[in-house]
Amino acid sequence: MADIVRGVYDTTKKKGENNADSKGSLDFDKLECADTVNSRRSKGRASFVLRKTFLKPIENDLRGQKEKNFYEDFWSGKAPHLGPASIAAEFIPKYFGFEVDTVKQNTFIKLDNLEDPFQKPCVIDLKIGTQTYDEDADNDKIAKQIKKFKYQELLGYRITGMKVYDVHHSEYRLYEKEYGRHLTNLNAGHGLMNFFFNGRSIRIDAIRSIKSKLQNVLCWFENQNVYRFYGHSVLLIYEGNIEEENLGVPTSKADVKLIDFAHCYKSKPEENRKDLGSIKGLKNILKVLESIEQFCDGIEVNTKGS
Ligand SMILES: Nc1ncnc2c1ncn2[C@@H]1O[C@H](COP(=O)(O)OP(=O)(O)OP(=O)(O)O)[C@@H](O)[C@H]1O
Ligand SMILES: [Mg+2]
Repeated sequence: MADIVRGVYDTTKKKGENNADSKGSLDFDKLECADTVNSRRSKGRASFVLRKTFLKPIENDLRGQKEKNFYEDFWSGKAPHLGPASIAAEFIPKYFGFEVDTVKQNTFIKLDNLEDPFQKPCVIDLKIGTQTYDEDADNDKIAKQIKKFKYQELLGYRITGMKVYDVHHSEYRLYEKEYGRHLTNLNAGHGLMNFFFNGRSIRIDAIRSIKSKLQNVLCWFENQNVYRFYGHSVLLIYEGNIEEENLGVPTSKADVKLIDFAHCYKSKPEENRKDLGSIKGLKNILKVLESIEQFCDGIEVNTKGS
């Protein structure tokens, strides 16, 4: 396989000098398809993994350009308080440039493979925000998006896919987009609880780790007024291999990342426009995690008392 050197993004270079030179090529037919929870393989747009790198196909239009621009803007360090020097550097995937499949004319952005540090990654994709359509979307587009999940505005999040390693059956339970679409404001929390149930117990250790990382994401949104996103997701990941994780420990290996920036808007700080949709969604997810925690604590008290 040829070397992966195309479009290398080097943040040490000055503005204008960065990346995008075509010095090599990848044989896409030989790459391993990524096991994403929100699969677009059926639409013929698979993502790939190459060692520690995740190659995400971007649309050949403004959406793709916006996502690529966001990563380049964020990691360029032009606004360090928003980018590499900010708390967000912990939860925005690292960006390594892009790659073009010249045969199929697809462009891929190269990101950190977020599943790589885990042996049995359990992953949920939560699309956050009170609207999933652009600020200038027409009525048809708005209606189409609302139809996908009518509780989006109320909850500020929905499940668009998940995979959970079931230790009882030694296999993954997979949930596609349809699973989340059939939940309502009354049982969306059960969907989240299901994500932490590994066939034997609720992974309260993972919930605790994820909660504290999620609070950092919320804190960033509450304190920044430059970026606004639509149709983006927060990805929650925990280690499903309980041999790797010692059950009974208060917290365990987990990660929280923001992904999918195809609908990214940027405004001047003086306009003071916060991303209120993301804030609402993150607060509601945190509330659900807290109530699962309380539920588990209650079970523990009851068992100890009996
Ligand atoms: N950096 C990453 N590392 C590992 N997996 C990732 C990464 N980024 C995305 N994924 C996986 O790919 C899935 C889809 O990602 P993303 O939403 O960015 O793509 P998309 O093509 O815009 O999909 P959609 O339009 O359906 O939301 C995620 O749910 C996750 O499972
Ligand atoms: Mg997505």
